[in-house]
Parts: sequence; structure tokens; C-alpha cells
Amino acid sequence: MPPGLRLLIPEQKIQARVRELGDRITRDYPEGPIYLIGILKGACIFLADLARAIERPVRIDFIGISSYGTGKTSSGEVKLTKDLDCSIEGADVLVVEDIVDSGVTLNYLVQVLAQRRPRSLKVVALLDKPSRRICPVDLAYVGFEIPDAFVVGYGLDYAENYRNLRDVCVLEEAD
Ligand code: IMP
Ligand code: MG
Repeated sequence: MPPGLRLLIPEQKIQARVRELGDRITRDYPEGPIYLIGILKGACIFLADLARAIERPVRIDFIGISSYGTGKTSSGEVKLTKDLDCSIEGADVLVVEDIVDSGVTLNYLVQVLAQRRPRSLKVVALLDKPSRRICPVDLAYVGFEIPDAFVVGYGLDYAENYRNLRDVCVLEEAD
């Protein structure tokens, strides 16, 4: 483990939980296809594992949205940096997010996507920091609730580092 990091959720626990989420999603969507929309870049690793844990046809698309600079605190400004490639009108959409903190990002994104008239629109987040919530967000599926700490790994970064760690770790240094 790189210095300055403390293990929070080991790889085995993440993988077991992703399989459980996949099973629930498989049951909740008896038909498909499910349109998985990953929020770049943090959700890409979670999405890759989750998609393979779902035993229904899926489509995969990505949207780029950013409310953070390169540091640990939000810039408070949400912007769309990459739009979807395809229409989601009439589709069963499942937004895949790495972590929900203030809720500002998802609150904005759900409003944008709802205007495109999907048949259904739900959110799955690997991690949830409920104590930090400013904007309400309805999370259909959550992997783990975690305390108010800055975490990295399994897709999550600090200044673009640590995304390829297999565990989720707390970043104990730097501001
Ligand atoms: P929100 O808009 O405040 O909910 O922030 C959500 C986004 O901020 C997530 O998609 C992450 O990209 C980023 N983020 C929030 N908390 C953390 C963290 O603890 N580690 C890494 N990124 C985080
Ligand atoms: Mg993100």
C-alpha cells in the first residue's frame, strides 16, 4: 500500500458487494436492455465489474461531468464535459457513480437526464457519504456507506492518482 493511505474496504469485500448489487439489479430488471451510464472518470472500474455481474443485456455509455477541481474539495461548479453518445429516450437508465458526497453532481445530472425522457431512471453508487449531503439524491442501490473521509482507489482519485488501486483507502495526507 502506498504511504499515506489507510485500508478502508479491501478488494474481496468490494467484489462480493458488487456481485450482490449485480444480483439485485438482475432481479429488478427482468427484461433489459439496461442502459448503464458511467460518470467519468471515477465510475469506470466499478462499471466494468458491475456490468459483468448483471445477467441481463446491457448497453454502456459514459458521461463526463465535473464538480471538482484537482484537489479534495468541490469547486461548487458543475459542468458537462462529455455528453452521451446515444439517445436514452424510452430506455431503462441506470446511472453508475463511484461516490456521492454533497450530491451536487448527481442532483444536476439526474435533472439533465430526466429531461431526455427515459422509461426509468435510477442511480447506483458504490460509496455514499450521507453525512456530507447538501442536495437530495435518490440512490436506488448503494455499495457501502462510509464516514466523512477522502477516499481513493477502485476508480477514485486524488489529483488523478490511485485510480488503479484494488482496495478503497482513506487518504490521510495532503490537502
Ligand atoms: P458531489 O457532487 O459532492 O456528490 O461529488 C461527487 C464527485 O466528487 C464524485 O463523483 C467524485 O468524483 C468526487 N468525490 C467526492 N468524494 C470523493 C472522495 O472521497 N474521493 C475521491 N473523489 C471524491
Ligand atoms: Mg465522479
